Amino acid sequence: MNVMTPPVSTPSLKEKGLDIILSDGSPHYFNYFWLRDNCPASFNADTRERSFDIFHLDAAPRAANAKIDGDALEIVWEGEDHVTRFPLSWLESYKEATPRPDPSDLPRQAWYSDHYPDVPRFSQPELMADPAARTRWIEAMLVKGFVILTDMPDSDAGLTETASLIGQVRPTFFGDYFDVRTHINPTNTAYTAAALELHTDTPAEEHAPGVQFLHCRVNSVQGGESLYADGVAVANDFRHRDPEGFKLLSEIAIPFYCEHDDYDMRSRQTVIELDQHGEVSGLTISQHMLDIIDLPQDLLDSYYPAFCRFGRMLQEDKYMMRFLMKAGECMVFDNHRIVHGRAAYSATSGDRYLRGCYTDRAEMRSTYRALVSEGRFKR
Ligand SMILES: [Fe+2]
Repeated sequence: MNVMTPPVSTPSLKEKGLDIILSDGSPHYFNYFWLRDNCPASFNADTRERSFDIFHLDAAPRAANAKIDGDALEIVWEGEDHVTRFPLSWLESYKEATPRPDPSDLPRQAWYSDHYPDVPRFSQPELMADPAARTRWIEAMLVKGFVILTDMPDSDAGLTETASLIGQVRPTFFGDYFDVRTHINPTNTAYTAAALELHTDTPAEEHAPGVQFLHCRVNSVQGGESLYADGVAVANDFRHRDPEGFKLLSEIAIPFYCEHDDYDMRSRQTVIELDQHGEVSGLTISQHMLDIIDLPQDLLDSYYPAFCRFGRMLQEDKYMMRFLMKAGECMVFDNHRIVHGRAAYSATSGDRYLRGCYTDRAEMRSTYRALVSEGRFKR
């Protein structure tokens, strides 16, 4: 079979755009506003931002003429002293109106209760020294949502420098950092020795932080096993087991709150979060921060049982990874995907001290893209 190279043809000028034959041999339409706005000369090489101002063109952009010149489309604009050259390969990538390829858009891999030996582990000093190790770390976060860092410095600065590798430390209304140890007058169940049910953190925030760091500084108490489950694994199974329940929990937002003397944070979230592909990307769940659900009571006839079916499923042994954190380890996990909790411990049996902070998912993905791709503007 002969592979035919499409003949070079003159672009066909229309009223609001032009047709051009691309490598598939078919005509593809491009709008003049889009072509003019995205002229390579519209972008400043230093700021890497668009410097062209399409709002102040005298008239709607229109090609006076256009031709294929080598491997580029050349457009002379009507009423302007301006010529645009687009590499045909660049136009190819926009012919189908699909989103720009995103190297951080990796398929998630669900994990189950037996995952602990396979949890990706990274040595903190190695992460500090080696960008390739940082790339593998973020990749594991995007795919599995949970990693353990080892050899952490036993200092507050150790956590800060680690979190800063993937993004800015992201404050919540508790501040930049939080310390999990038993408090005399607790404002939060986490600060007692009681068991802590599986939850995602700060669900009452409009945009709950995306990545959580829990640095274990001391752990000599009896009990206090850490519990983690992959919300993607549970919700994907729920989708098959209980399609009606899945629909309710992924479409209807319910209220969460966090309230004390000086704050009254409120939000509405769906329990199951879907990404741009319709795939499960996370959860928002917290019984201790669930507000009084204010949906119509007859809707609650179906919503509440579905919510409870899902909540019970989340606690099935099949999903629950249990282990004891060791001093010098730092758990890093996707706070929207991984639910976490803790078994009760004896507060008098020793010391338990975790220091935590957050960064955001979007910034982690940004760091990943910068590590793995050349980008559009790198020189
Ligand atoms: Fe928590």
